[in-house]
Amino acid sequence: MTAALKPAVRIDEKRLAARLKRLSEFTEPGRPWERTAFSDLHLKAREWLKGEMSASGLETNIDAGGNLIGRLHGTSNGLGALASGSHSDTVPAGGRFDGALGVIAALEVASAMRDAGHRLRHPFEVIDFLAEEPNQYGLSCIGSRAMAGELSHEHLDFKAADGTTLGQGIRRMGGDPDRLIAPLRPRGDIAGFVEIHIEQGRVLEGSEEDIGVVTAIVGITRIAVDIGGRADHSGATPMGLRKDALVGASLMIAAFDAQARQDYYAPLVATVGKLEVHPNASNVVPGRVSFVLEVRAGQGQPLTRYHKWAEGTIRTIAEERGLTFRTRIIGRSDPVTMDTDIQLAISDAASASNLKYRSMPSGAGHDAAHVALFAPSGMIFIPCLDGRSHCPEEFSSIDQIVRGAQALVDTIIALDAK
Ligand code: GLV
Ligand code: MN
Ligand code: MN
Ligand code: MN
Repeated sequence: MTAALKPAVRIDEKRLAARLKRLSEFTEPGRPWERTAFSDLHLKAREWLKGEMSASGLETNIDAGGNLIGRLHGTSNGLGALASGSHSDTVPAGGRFDGALGVIAALEVASAMRDAGHRLRHPFEVIDFLAEEPNQYGLSCIGSRAMAGELSHEHLDFKAADGTTLGQGIRRMGGDPDRLIAPLRPRGDIAGFVEIHIEQGRVLEGSEEDIGVVTAIVGITRIAVDIGGRADHSGATPMGLRKDALVGASLMIAAFDAQARQDYYAPLVATVGKLEVHPNASNVVPGRVSFVLEVRAGQGQPLTRYHKWAEGTIRTIAEERGLTFRTRIIGRSDPVTMDTDIQLAISDAASASNLKYRSMPSGAGHDAAHVALFAPSGMIFIPCLDGRSHCPEEFSSIDQIVRGAQALVDTIIALDAK
């Protein structure tokens, strides 16, 4: 049969919508769309996902990094797998689509091919990467880092507030931390990886385009900062005698923001989104503050430069205020470019369906950034309402989702034919 005569593989809108809805129901009561990594709900959601994979004819397993993988055999021997997926965990009080879409759409690709009787030459894998979002252990993209061999012993010893280590967390999710120091997937094992995700910004919506072909993913540095002052009585301690850790931290945070705003020529974003105050009482001068400074940029050099500047600024402000400080890098990923052949395959798939597309970089981090370290990788973005993401308002319409999923299956089929 020639390629042109093969039955078209069509995305089943109802099945895709129903699965997305079902996955969204594994969330915290009273807190819509919260399914943080390593939680009981995350485990339950993955149990359901594993069942859906099996029912769709995929062979399932959880690798040493805690990634849930469903695999279809290919018709040719000895070829690396084509793979698609994303993550089923959410940020606290997050949305229904960040991560979930990429996992469910990948599963729909497998189901739609099965409906159409379309078999790939390559094996096909649907991957739910473990813990893409920063979590109680501090590190993001645990599963995709494990695949790439980026996890160190030090990472596996990162501790959560409950005293458990990341290694124990991985074990709880079905992985095996003892096997994690070497890359789980040697080069060639995955012949191509494509992740679909909501854009999490406003570009596609603003230009009324259906598909973003991702060209590159930002680099991200996260630095944990502990500021030590002195806890004292808020009424009895004169202003001149205080060592207020929160005032010191606040001056630092304002400086981080001002500096990032000045970087016109090398766009860079800096955020402190997590902060803990001890003892956190209204009548105690804060004795200790911990926060995470996250910095992102499309190029490595501004990231490094900003990091160096931030370390100096922390030191200067701490000294001025009589505070102690400690900084520790908890995660660093360099900017990565997406594979040009995969970008082309996505653009061609979009054109073939008369979809409007544009090439664009990603300001968000993704598992694809880590998979790209050992396999040709690409990403498809779809528009989302008002660019909202990492919040309960996150939304993409089923039409937007189906257009993206159709581009995904068409891309996978095109890559298989190469
Ligand atoms: C992912 O959610 C990110 O932090 O970019
Ligand atoms: Mn996210
Ligand atoms: Mn995501
Ligand atoms: Mn992300």
